[in-house]
Amino acid sequence: MSITPPTNDPNKPLQSLEEWEDFMKVRYPEPKDGETPKKPAVGYAPEKTETEFRNYEADARPTVREFYRLNHTNQTHEFSLAKRREFLGLKRMTMGVWEAAEYLNQLVDDSDPDTDMSQLEHLLQTSEQLRRDGRPRWMVLTGFVHDLGKILCLWGEPQWAVVGDTFPTGCAYSDKIVFPKFFEANPDSRDPRYQTRNGVYTEGCGLDAVALSWGHDEYIYHVCKEYLPMEGLYMLRYHSFYPWHREEQYGHLCNDQDRAMLKWVREFNPYDLYTKSHTKPDAKALRPYYEELIREFFPEKIRW
Ligand SMILES: [Fe+2]
Ligand SMILES: [Fe+2]
Repeated sequence: MSITPPTNDPNKPLQSLEEWEDFMKVRYPEPKDGETPKKPAVGYAPEKTETEFRNYEADARPTVREFYRLNHTNQTHEFSLAKRREFLGLKRMTMGVWEAAEYLNQLVDDSDPDTDMSQLEHLLQTSEQLRRDGRPRWMVLTGFVHDLGKILCLWGEPQWAVVGDTFPTGCAYSDKIVFPKFFEANPDSRDPRYQTRNGVYTEGCGLDAVALSWGHDEYIYHVCKEYLPMEGLYMLRYHSFYPWHREEQYGHLCNDQDRAMLKWVREFNPYDLYTKSHTKPDAKALRPYYEELIREFFPEKIRW
C-alpha cells in the first residue's frame, strides 16, 4: 500500500479500516514462538528505550494520525452514551448472520483489492485459524462475527466512531492509550468530573458499567448477547480495548468476572491481529460449514 495523506473527508481519514489494524500490528508486533503477547513490545525491537517506543506515533501514516486525532477529540462521554441510545435498540434491520457478513462485505474502501482482505475474508481468516487450532465451536463462531459491527460504516458512521482501540470515557485517560496528546482537544479533558481516576464510576464497578469509547465492539456485543457464551461475548465487546488487554490499564474499574474473562480476550487477540497476511479463504466453499455453525447458536434472523 502506498502512503497517502488523509482525505478531506473527516468521516474517512483512513483509506481503509485496515490501516488502523496495520498500525496496531506495528505497535504490538507478533510475538515469536514461545513469547507471550501480554505486554506491549517496546518499539520495534526489545532493546529500544521509552523515547524510541514513541516512534510508533512519529512513524504512523498521516492518515492514521488524523484518524486518532478525530477519534480522541470527538469520543466524549456524552457521545458514547448518545451512540448507545441511537444504536442499541437494534431497530434498524433484521437479518441472519451470514447475510450480515455479506452485507458488511459491500464495504469497499480505497485499499488495494489485490493485496488487501475483504471484510468477509478477514472474518473467515480469523475463524478458520481458530478452527485449525481446534478451538471450541462457539469460539470459531465468535471469530466469524467479531467485526460484523463494522456495518456501522455502511450507515454513515465516521471511521473514528467505528474502529480504533477503545478506552473508558467519563474518567481519566491512561497515558498508555495510543496518541494520548490528542485527548487535549477532547472537551472531557477540561471537565473535572471526568478527570479523576474513577470519574463517574466507582472502584471495582465492573466493565459492564463503563462506557468505553463507541465503536463496532460494543455494537456487535449487543447484537449477539443472547446467543453466545460469556467468554465469546467478552471477546466481542473488548477485542479493541487494548489499554486493558495489552497495557494492563483500568484494573481498578474491573470486577471479579472481568478479571476471570480477561484471559479469553487475550486468547482471542492474536487471531484477530495476526492472521491477516496468509492466503485468502474461499467463502463459497466455506459457506455450508458456517451456515450450520450459525444455526447451532443463532436463530435464522436477528435484530441489528
Ligand atoms: Fe474489530
Ligand atoms: Fe478484526
